[in-house]
Amino acid sequence: MGSNARCEASRTSTIQEASELADINWDNLGFGLVPTDYMYIAKSPIDGVFTEGGLQRFGPIQMCPSAGILNYGQGLFEGLKAYRKEDGSILLFRPEENAWRMRTGAERMCMPSPTVEHFVDAVKKTVLANKRWVPPPGKGSLYIRPLLMGSGAVLGLAPAPEYTFLIFVSPVGNYFKEGLAPINLIVENEFHRAIPGGTGGVKTIGNYAAVLKAQSIAKAKGYSDVLYLDSVHKKYLEEVSSCNVFVVKDKVISTPAIKGTILPGITRKSIIEVAQSQGFQVEERLVAIDELLEADEVFCTGTAVVVSPVGSITYLGKRVEYGDEGVGIVSQQLYSALTSLQMGLSEDKLCWTVVE
Ligand code: COI
Repeated sequence: MGSNARCEASRTSTIQEASELADINWDNLGFGLVPTDYMYIAKSPIDGVFTEGGLQRFGPIQMCPSAGILNYGQGLFEGLKAYRKEDGSILLFRPEENAWRMRTGAERMCMPSPTVEHFVDAVKKTVLANKRWVPPPGKGSLYIRPLLMGSGAVLGLAPAPEYTFLIFVSPVGNYFKEGLAPINLIVENEFHRAIPGGTGGVKTIGNYAAVLKAQSIAKAKGYSDVLYLDSVHKKYLEEVSSCNVFVVKDKVISTPAIKGTILPGITRKSIIEVAQSQGFQVEERLVAIDELLEADEVFCTGTAVVVSPVGSITYLGKRVEYGDEGVGIVSQQLYSALTSLQMGLSEDKLCWTVVE
């Protein structure tokens, strides 16, 4: 059986005709919310099973002021993307991976979570209901944001008695204002993103609030974002506020190993597999700050950032530049390989994409 036929067999829905497109300027998408038509909502009691749920018009939701998520941050989010192909069909990239990651995070945060099947089905329903918001080929993607939150009322510190699984979507373009041009990072020496035994390895909302201070200071100084070091030795790379990091030296690609303080990125995992399939040696291990400063190339990966080349790193006042501020060869090669797969422009031998 050819790989196309194999993938076809694992797909649950059929290719549909392209819908009419929403009337917006598709050439101007950044990474900001564009309100769309529908969101998906399902509910669960604390130790129960999520109800089937359904679609509602996109808009504000009602929540008790003493909801667990509002008071104690009991919540998780996910991020994945849908791309429109030239033939009008829509591709999702590895949605089951997001479903599994949400389940792992939910366990850490004492929350019930939707099954993988429920998660993927809800994502498909939400994307199809908002099909006119999936950008035309080459203009961006539909960013899908699943949320899992303790929506029931609490006052004392305890898991909430009720949970809401919600999905909303927004068309997006590039995450960084630099577009695909290399970004400039500063290594943070005072604040830390995560600690051993903490929640750095799951996609809980608090991890992202915690980096806003360092990020704001960095942005005010003109940097694109912040790269965090481990909180114990202040020596090993962890991740950037919104993405994982890779260093390239002598054609060997290294990235910090997943050890509880780093988010197990789905783009990170995919890039490792793509790089290995292209003959690169990839090492997941402790990566010291000195190696970063001596690297040939540095790049970041994430659903939102995709593969983002790093043009410079500043550490303790010293600035190191990579690749004459152009996109490095390895970063470019991996970016092209991954996005071709995500957009359905190359053969999906690994069956990573799901056709809507
Ligand atoms: C993503 O890449 O989807 C993320 O969750 C990062 C977020 C800060 C945009």
